[in-house]
Amino acid sequence: MKVLGISGSLRRDSYNTKLLRAAEELLPPFVELEVWDELKAVPPFDEDDELGPEPAAVASLRRAVAGADAILFATPEYNGSVPGQLKNAIDWLSRPVATSVLRGKPVLVVGASSGAFGAVWSQAELRKVLATAGARVVDGEVAVGHAPTKFDELDTLVAEELRDELRESLEVLADEVAPRPVALAV
Ligand SMILES: Cc1cc2nc3c(=O)[nH]c(=O)nc-3n(C[C@H](O)[C@H](O)[C@H](O)COP(=O)(O)O)c2cc1C
Repeated sequence: MKVLGISGSLRRDSYNTKLLRAAEELLPPFVELEVWDELKAVPPFDEDDELGPEPAAVASLRRAVAGADAILFATPEYNGSVPGQLKNAIDWLSRPVATSVLRGKPVLVVGASSGAFGAVWSQAELRKVLATAGARVVDGEVAVGHAPTKFDELDTLVAEELRDELRESLEVLADEVAPRPVALAV
């Protein structure tokens, strides 16, 4: 099973990108994570441009999403909401509406912020946007507040309760793609 990781931050030392790397380590063994890192190259969405050739970064994004069984988004919070570059990419992905690669795709949203709340507003808004675009948003929230204190110098997520939450949320995502057989009671 393949999960595509998309960080909503363009920053080199992004805590959200580190969170994706932490997820790589906590995924169930039969799941691989591929991080898509071309967000900065996605041009601003313009309906007029839908009539012309597909921009290369948009083609790459659509291909990556179509080829994945599920998507893991790690989003920062900018002024109480989703960073513009991430919302812009989802606007591209949501089109054409009838054949959007997001339609029916299982997605999990997590987030990190330098403040106390771990981007919970942004996460909530991102879930709303993704559901509007037709994605299957799974339950699970991992809110990494005070992010600079939650990773060590090797970028390992060191907070044990957050590691547990992330592991459990990733299991929910994997189950959404391929439900595990329920153990029969004897
Ligand atoms: C433009 C801007 C707006 C921000 N607004 C918020 C905010 O509303 N809430 C919050 O918790 N942090 C906010 N922050 C701080 C981010 O949480 C912090 O920069 C975080 O490290 C960004 O994620 P990253 O490390 O993945 O880049 C903001 C940062 C920027 C640059």
